[in-house]
Amino acid sequence: MSYDLVIKNAVVHTAADTFASDIAIKGEKIAALGTDLKTEGAKVLDAKGLEVVPGGIDVHTHLDMPFGGTTTADDFVSGTTAAACGGTTSIIDFAIQKKGEELRTGLETWHKKAQSKSAVDYGFHMIITDLPENKVKEMDKVVDEGVASFKLFMAYPGVFMSDDATIFRALLRTKENGGMVCMHAENGGVIDVLIQKALAEGKTEPKYHALTRPMTAEAEATHRALALAEMAGVPIYIVHLSAGDAMEEVRRARERGLPAFAETCPQYLFLSYEDYEKPNFEGAKYVMSPPLRPKGNEDRLWKGLNNDWLQVVSTDHCSFCFHTKGEKPGKEMGRKDFSKIPNGAPGIETRLLLLWKAVQEGRLSVNRFVEITSTTPAKLFGLYPRKGTIAPGADADLVIWDPKKKHTISVKTHHMNVDYNPYEGVTVPGSIREVLVRGKRVVENGKFAGTTTHGTFLKRGPRSTKMLDSAAASARRPQLEEVIK
Ligand code: URP
Ligand code: ZN
Ligand code: ZN
Repeated sequence: MSYDLVIKNAVVHTAADTFASDIAIKGEKIAALGTDLKTEGAKVLDAKGLEVVPGGIDVHTHLDMPFGGTTTADDFVSGTTAAACGGTTSIIDFAIQKKGEELRTGLETWHKKAQSKSAVDYGFHMIITDLPENKVKEMDKVVDEGVASFKLFMAYPGVFMSDDATIFRALLRTKENGGMVCMHAENGGVIDVLIQKALAEGKTEPKYHALTRPMTAEAEATHRALALAEMAGVPIYIVHLSAGDAMEEVRRARERGLPAFAETCPQYLFLSYEDYEKPNFEGAKYVMSPPLRPKGNEDRLWKGLNNDWLQVVSTDHCSFCFHTKGEKPGKEMGRKDFSKIPNGAPGIETRLLLLWKAVQEGRLSVNRFVEITSTTPAKLFGLYPRKGTIAPGADADLVIWDPKKKHTISVKTHHMNVDYNPYEGVTVPGSIREVLVRGKRVVENGKFAGTTTHGTFLKRGPRSTKMLDSAAASARRPQLEEVIK
């Protein structure tokens, strides 16, 4: 067989192994691995001295999302271009059901936002804001359309927050349809009281965003989410986990054998509460929920990543400019009131760079890097083995690193449509030289070379239920069995 492209002399890292190999690509797929693969008729890319990993999968992005009185700075065009430049070859973005709307209507809106506007492959989770009993079957239709995961919120009362009954209804339905619930776990009621109290006392600066969202509010909600999933007998995935105390809840659930999973994000590993205290309202750049935690917390999260108490690093990319730009109010609209600062920060382009730095500094093995940025996200969200590994038959989604070249993160060079970078000036020992999405080179010699029409919709299957559901059933406290089969 003749190949289209052969990457020669690479050092390949997967979640399981590191080995020397050529990688042969035919069309959109990896066709063969091995040494001395035939190159006749093929384009050859010599990767001597370079390192290859599977394309990153970012399962938590918000592109073109109306939120907090404005709309995110990045749409699918700029967001996925930035993703590609940062080595992310697939994203899962969040489609939103408006209150009173059918789930599928919200999904159609997001299809229109993304179609023919994406440089990388994309799928969706469905945000549920309204789920009375007579609507639960709408979840099944969404799963049938390849959107096999749902986000519910225990925070943002009056906007996204669901009560426990709604959450429990959704969890129970995933037992029928094979979907998975992704939970924003913060106690929204408590936080709202604390916000009102702070504002009444004239405490308006950005740091009060963090001080009104205590770790315990996250740990309590995480505990409750895990308990609700246990009672429903289904797996659950906690999104953007920030607090070490919340992680302990996940750890305890997993030690009891429950199929509980959690992601953290680079901001919780590389930034801290102290950033909110920067002068001139700079702290607003870091306003996100859950908030950054005090220094020292990040060490607990690194330990959790290395011990599989946390399984994924995603970005929660939700970019807002600092300054108001055109019709999109920026972070500065909260100058007099921290609760009006739009929640979210950019990161779609910097996730792999920051974690690669962590690998070079010995905080993470390179194989664990692959596992938490690509393989496990693919497995949990119905994309494996098409994506998430380097093997014959998999999509040729690859990132080629040059370990000899440094990359300094900066607003001056990033591709995100946002006027600051939370990691400004951080230097990474290594740089992304080539990125392939389904066999097509979208980054060549460190420069974007793709198109924003190449990305296709990823229709995802329901989770592979057998293993996870039997874990849920066997770890569940048994007296529930009579009412919930
Ligand atoms: O601050 C955040 N995280 N903004 C995005 C919305 C969310 O809760 O994920
Ligand atoms: Zn959230
Ligand atoms: Zn989010």
